[in-house]
Amino acid sequence: MAIRPILKMGEPLLLKPADLIYEFDTPYLHQLITDMLDTMKHANGAGIAAPQIGVSQQVVVFGGSKSQRYPDANEVPFTVLINPTINFLNDEQEDGWEGCLSVPGMRGMVPRCTHLHYQGFDQYAQVIDRTVSGFHARVVQHEVDHLRGILYPMRIRDLRQFGFIDSLFPGQVISDD
Ligand code: NI
Repeated sequence: MAIRPILKMGEPLLLKPADLIYEFDTPYLHQLITDMLDTMKHANGAGIAAPQIGVSQQVVVFGGSKSQRYPDANEVPFTVLINPTINFLNDEQEDGWEGCLSVPGMRGMVPRCTHLHYQGFDQYAQVIDRTVSGFHARVVQHEVDHLRGILYPMRIRDLRQFGFIDSLFPGQVISDD
């Protein structure tokens, strides 16, 4: 088990497109995923991308439990997603609050597509192929953005809806990230 330091916004590596994974089911890949999970759980995150622990490769993990941050969200299955691609199924978007382990203590209102199809592989090179909507679609877009060098503040349309959790939601108990 290894909890790794989480890179914060401002680190150049977070803005860099991540490299594809070419070898699956390797000790290296399993260790990377274990470290990502340990780090995500320790920080109470809803998902994490490999660049956030300083590894510029196309691996994300998300889901598996109801998020403290998004208690009304439909359950997202625990997923290890490697080399993902996304196809948006229509132009519909909706706004929602997002946070990120790399932007601690803050939230922003981010428009995301509501219906999409995504594909990729798990750590054993098994194909993942899903059509999803709502919160699941939002999480996938947020995590895949990390692999393209995009952080959610770059997608906020109205910067008045971006701020610190304790100022945006006074009196509410919301976990830090
Ligand atoms: Ni994030």
